[in-house]
Amino acid sequence: MRKRIVAGNWKMNLDMEKGMSVFSEIVHMVNDERNGTQEVIICPPFPLLNQFAKLGAGIVHVGAQNCHDQASGAYTGEISAHMIKSTGANYVIIGHSERRQYFAESNELLLVKTKQALANNLKPIFCIGETLEERNNGSYFDVLRTQLKEGVFGLSEFEFEQVILAYEPVWAIGTGLTASPEQAQDIHSFIRQEIENHYNQTIANNTSILYGGSCNPGNAAALFAQSDIDGGLIGGASLKSRDFTDIVKALN
Ligand code: G3P
Repeated sequence: MRKRIVAGNWKMNLDMEKGMSVFSEIVHMVNDERNGTQEVIICPPFPLLNQFAKLGAGIVHVGAQNCHDQASGAYTGEISAHMIKSTGANYVIIGHSERRQYFAESNELLLVKTKQALANNLKPIFCIGETLEERNNGSYFDVLRTQLKEGVFGLSEFEFEQVILAYEPVWAIGTGLTASPEQAQDIHSFIRQEIENHYNQTIANNTSILYGGSCNPGNAAALFAQSDIDGGLIGGASLKSRDFTDIVKALN
């Protein structure tokens, strides 16, 4: 049985004081609401990881939003997978479209980053998604297939089984233009079939595939009711404790 997961990607938002306040509210609300079948993760900016890992107390897990592709060395300003693990975090987002766009992160580089995460016992949340242009010109299936093939499909079966996938149509991120449940299900089903074709049916059935892109308390239930949508990767709505908790409740 694959896991049902809601992860919050805080991006570059909230400082220590405000972040601790929001995270504490989320931990208390999730503890009151959860039925034990959901996995809840918050991915804050790096400086908050260690405090959150302590405060999360197994109720809310913690992840980073990126890691470097090398184990250590002269990379000023960078953070390694080992450093992330040493904070108590257990997840890391890799390949978010904003990193692909602003930092030119290629599929090949993201595979190396994913291997670094796995080597340090971090669960990768590997992101794929098409741009508005690729959606409109009909090339999105080819784009997604290439992101998988050049990215996570370079992993062994055992390695891939540790991966959480996130489909985030770039045109839905931060725009309020959410993919319809049918659009999202169509892509999630395609992704699961690609996994089966590359690995096998068991691995495909056991892979959690999250949806991200303007998911909110008003649309989460309809999205999560789709057979191949196993939860969400939430941006803006994860910065508000009640909204995020309502999305977690929609996983039921
Ligand atoms: O990683 C999740 C993020 O890209 C989605 O952002 O604000 O559209 O929920 P948002």
